[in-house]
Amino acid sequence: MSTLDVAAIRADFPILKRTVRNDRRLVYLDSGATSQKPYQVLDAERDFYENHNAAVHRGAHLLAEEATDAFEHARANIASFIGANADDLVFTKNATEAINLVSYAFLNATLKSAHKKALPPGSERFILKVGDEILVTEMEHHANLVPWQELCDKTGAVLRWIGLTDEGRLDLSDETLFNERTRIVALTHQSNLLGTVNDIPAIVKSARAVDALILLDSCQSVPHMSVDVSTLGVDFLTWSGHKMLGPLGIGCLWGRADLLAAMPPFITGGSMIEVVSMAGTTFAAPPKRFEAGVPMAAQAVGLSAAVDYLRVLGMDKVAAHEHEMTKATIAGLQSIPGVRIIGPEDLVDRGSAVSFVIEGLHPHDVGQVLDESGVAVRVGQHCAKPVCTRYGIAAATRATYYIYNDLDDVEALIEGVHAAKKFFGV
Ligand code: ALA
Repeated sequence: MSTLDVAAIRADFPILKRTVRNDRRLVYLDSGATSQKPYQVLDAERDFYENHNAAVHRGAHLLAEEATDAFEHARANIASFIGANADDLVFTKNATEAINLVSYAFLNATLKSAHKKALPPGSERFILKVGDEILVTEMEHHANLVPWQELCDKTGAVLRWIGLTDEGRLDLSDETLFNERTRIVALTHQSNLLGTVNDIPAIVKSARAVDALILLDSCQSVPHMSVDVSTLGVDFLTWSGHKMLGPLGIGCLWGRADLLAAMPPFITGGSMIEVVSMAGTTFAAPPKRFEAGVPMAAQAVGLSAAVDYLRVLGMDKVAAHEHEMTKATIAGLQSIPGVRIIGPEDLVDRGSAVSFVIEGLHPHDVGQVLDESGVAVRVGQHCAKPVCTRYGIAAATRATYYIYNDLDDVEALIEGVHAAKKFFGV
């Protein structure tokens, strides 16, 4: 079936060699929460610590120079993976922090302007007035919802959202949601629960018509498909490293150069400054303005190795491979009585997150039976409670696929669902 050599890929992932409960083979279907890591990433991090470890952008010694070079090389390599320039890529702790960074640019610009404090040229775009609107969607995970709710609570801006159709797509019928008060549209590229891939050109067109900014949360797209900011037309892109074979503890914010330059800082301290005196401080140009403190150089080096790994495979092949497993999963679940898929059942503009509920069973019970058979899935609300509410469910079971999965894994999932039904007699 595969566009990828899964056996060769699996050999690169040490964790896939271990067994889990009852000495079963690990069938890891939770890459939407975090992916596993290949030797290439683990080795890159280890090499950094063993041979080059130092605090970057500090120190005049050889190790500091090597560590800084490795960190900045990683930035350029990761930026090029999404068609961006190195200077427009900011490292954060995770995608959540990247989204907060942008929401706090609005808050800090608004507060500083109210107190007549200095702001970078162009920062008017980030100063909110009472009644300005922030537009999100009902399918956001909490990371791209709560920061905007907080921003509205603190500034008097109003949160509005694009609702969902019964099929799990954005309902774009209400054109008034995009209006002259809309300041930023923040939405997901691919829903972590529904698997829906959103129509970004349509959103960009509507947002541009009212001069609103666009933040695209790409946690579930950059790891799984080709994403190029030079053609997407958005202003900000956020994603995390750990969902794309990289280490935990590193996320990315890409922003349009003119916007990053106009944003006040979020977290402040060392490294992000220009001139400091007891009377006040001026700030460095991006990306350093947004990277206070000693940065996560080893994680950046690891993420750069992850990018290299994915680049060799080819993102179009990764997407095609996941598509085959999605197709088999949907077909398999559709054939089981009492199973309801939450999200689009057609395969157009659909990623590989497949969520479902089984009539008469709580997802935690389903997850437990699957776990007994070695199948690791996520159960619960998937940090997307409003999506569960929209579809009238308390929780769901979710399978997410990646490069090291194959149709045997899909079969293990489907067998596990049958086993859960049998075990609980539904
Ligand atoms: N947003 C992550 C997930 O979907 C944590 O599991």
